[in-house]
Amino acid sequence: MAKKINLLLLSAAVLLLVLNACRKETPVTGATTPTLPEVPYNYVSYDFGRMLDPFFNQPANNMLTNEGATLGRVLFYDAKLSLNNTVACATCHKQQFAFADNTKGSIGFESKTTPRNSPAIINAGMSSGYFWDIRATTLEEQVLMPVKNHVEMGLENMDNLEIKLRKQDYYAPLFEDAFGTTEISRERIAMALSQFLRSMVSYRSKYDAGMAVDFQNFSALEKMGKDLFFSWDMTCQGCHSGDNFNGWGTSAANIGLDDNYTDNGMGDLLVNQDASFDGLFKVPSLRNVAVTAPYMHDGRFISLEDVIEHYNTGVKKHRNLDYRLTEGGGFFFLEGDGGGNGIPVIDPLPGGSDFGNPRKLNLTEVQKRSLVAFLQTLTDYELMRDPKFSNPFAAN
Ligand code: HEC
Ligand code: HEC
Repeated sequence: MAKKINLLLLSAAVLLLVLNACRKETPVTGATTPTLPEVPYNYVSYDFGRMLDPFFNQPANNMLTNEGATLGRVLFYDAKLSLNNTVACATCHKQQFAFADNTKGSIGFESKTTPRNSPAIINAGMSSGYFWDIRATTLEEQVLMPVKNHVEMGLENMDNLEIKLRKQDYYAPLFEDAFGTTEISRERIAMALSQFLRSMVSYRSKYDAGMAVDFQNFSALEKMGKDLFFSWDMTCQGCHSGDNFNGWGTSAANIGLDDNYTDNGMGDLLVNQDASFDGLFKVPSLRNVAVTAPYMHDGRFISLEDVIEHYNTGVKKHRNLDYRLTEGGGFFFLEGDGGGNGIPVIDPLPGGSDFGNPRKLNLTEVQKRSLVAFLQTLTDYELMRDPKFSNPFAAN
């Protein structure tokens, strides 16, 4: 009997040890200094396949370099960017989830939870607006906002950030490699972080491979989903358009999640004084969406099936509901055969189109499954295991 209990205790201890060992590999706060390759990884010049211009929003004074992105990588994974050294960007933007988080809200500074769902950061160079409410218009402006945010990283005083980073021996040479001198400033921190984020180009999905071979690599179900997604009858690509499936980066829409939103997205911004922006949120990229659950700005849907069911039967009649999700508004054309003979509709953003009741898509079970199967072809597994985007503090 005693022996049995001892054995149990032993196995429990072994299990704990194993669990602890596993845990050691994942956190961003592993080692105190980063381990970097002798020759920097190549972030700049390689074949992006069919992605037109993955860095289109790059400002002339902050062109991507391998050294700049290397510094950005260290900053992205460094918990010293938070007030109490516990939270890094990567705490909420995890490589294995295409730099999103797998929880509704993310746990930040002092265990506070973010009110919104952490979005995947991929193809940031192909966007012209950041955050769910598009309140930041450039990446250089965006990247320091989480550091100051008291829910996320709590380091409101940028002087203190600079002082703190100057104390870490590993930074001076990295700043010198990236910018020519060892000076550590908030501007340079923002520039390097932006470079690293821009270098996270997602372009190696099954869908991308399919583009080159007329989708010979797709199953029948995936093909069916692709045809539905891009069909005139369905509205998906009316909003999730472009190479990055994000409406070319600045679109926002109200997709009728609620009759009354508790978080009004763009409507809550001070610059938007009237109610016509209520419930408008950024059109997110659908690349890697299979690994970025839960979904929507508040993480309300746990599966892609739930998302499809929302578009199929769940859209609510909000006064700002986007015309593409109403009975009267199809894909770009109000009336006609959808083949170009209809009356073109001028995009009535923001909201308030009043083209009638929410559309029901009347999808069959197979059609629903096919849409999910198609969305799953947008996953870029290479991105998620690419060492140049991995945690440099984890190695030693
Ligand atoms: C505590 C969790 C947390 C931390 C830490 C964090 N983020 Fe975020 N991030 C979020 C959430 C949540 C959002 C969405 C917020 C919103 O839309 O209001 C977001 C949004 C973003 C976006 C906008 C993406 C888009 O497509 O609109 C970028 C870029 C980003 N974060 C980069 C960073 C960087 C760089 C850092 C480190 C300096 C960082 N984040 C730290 C949770 C976090
Ligand atoms: C009117 C524009 C519009 C149309 C049409 C549209 N979407 Fe969306 N989609 C959005 C917006 C905006 C969001 C984010 C909404 C929010 O969080 O409040 C979104 C979110 C999503 C998400 C969740 C992404 C994430 O990271 O959380 C998926 C998946 C998605 N849409 C798939 C589709 C599919 C499939 C279709 C066609 C059936 C479709 N969308 C049609 C605008 C649109």
